[in-house]
Amino acid sequence: MKSTAVFKQMKGRQEPITMITAYDAPGGKAAEKAGMDIILVGDSAGMVVHGYDSTIPVTLDDMVMHARAVRRGAPGTFIVVDLPFLTYHSSIESTFTAVRRLMQEGGAQAVKLEGGDEATTETIARLTASGVPVTGHIGLTPQSVGVLGGYKVQGKTKEAAQRLMEEAQGLEQAGAFALVLECVPGELAARIAMHLSIPVIGIGAGAGIDGQVLVFHDAVGWGDNFVPSFAKQYTNVQTQIDEALENYVSDVKARAFPEDRHTFSMDASVLNDLGR
Ligand code: KIV
Ligand code: NA
Repeated sequence: MKSTAVFKQMKGRQEPITMITAYDAPGGKAAEKAGMDIILVGDSAGMVVHGYDSTIPVTLDDMVMHARAVRRGAPGTFIVVDLPFLTYHSSIESTFTAVRRLMQEGGAQAVKLEGGDEATTETIARLTASGVPVTGHIGLTPQSVGVLGGYKVQGKTKEAAQRLMEEAQGLEQAGAFALVLECVPGELAARIAMHLSIPVIGIGAGAGIDGQVLVFHDAVGWGDNFVPSFAKQYTNVQTQIDEALENYVSDVKARAFPEDRHTFSMDASVLNDLGR
């Protein structure tokens, strides 16, 4: 399993870091098999797995369950788990409780939390001082969608760009070992990555940074979720799933399934002895 030190070295030798989300054992297993550097158990589970229209309804129990499943599927991969909505804001005690559950019950190596304001950097400083590896997440922060007023590109004005740069530096100073940048112009993301010594992993943040993260279901084309323009669909498993299930339905209706090879049989004499 790779470590936070390895990710920093990878940035140093300009080797891109690969990250994908996973929510269950087969997803984790596939990611590990592909040689993913990091698996993110993201609260995007709310949308792609649970059918909500945002990450807000996702609970700590949900994330613990997803983390445990992913860990069983990917025993050898560094796992980061999202702290869900409002689990790291009210007190440091409740934040520690949430982190303890994600790491001890969920089996995660690290947690990720959204935001770059002073309160968030203070929380990150407390966590890292206590031995918790933390990934920051700024730019588009989906847990604040209600405040941001929608899912849109961040950091396009001089003030917003300046603020993102300062937040990124604050998160590094607070001890974050990596930073996720979401929906930020490529030029600004590259500038931020250049000014930081910790790896910057992007989603919708261009190629000039230290790594990339995609949502599993976007990458494989699973579900009917909106696929953002910055995501790349490497395949479309949904069309295969649709076809398979349609064929199953028509097979059963036509009595074409099950066939003999799908059916157990027994000695005819036993059936005779049974009478009628
Ligand atoms: O939950 C998630 O999938 C994420 C990524 C988009 C970075 O936080
Ligand atoms: Na997330």
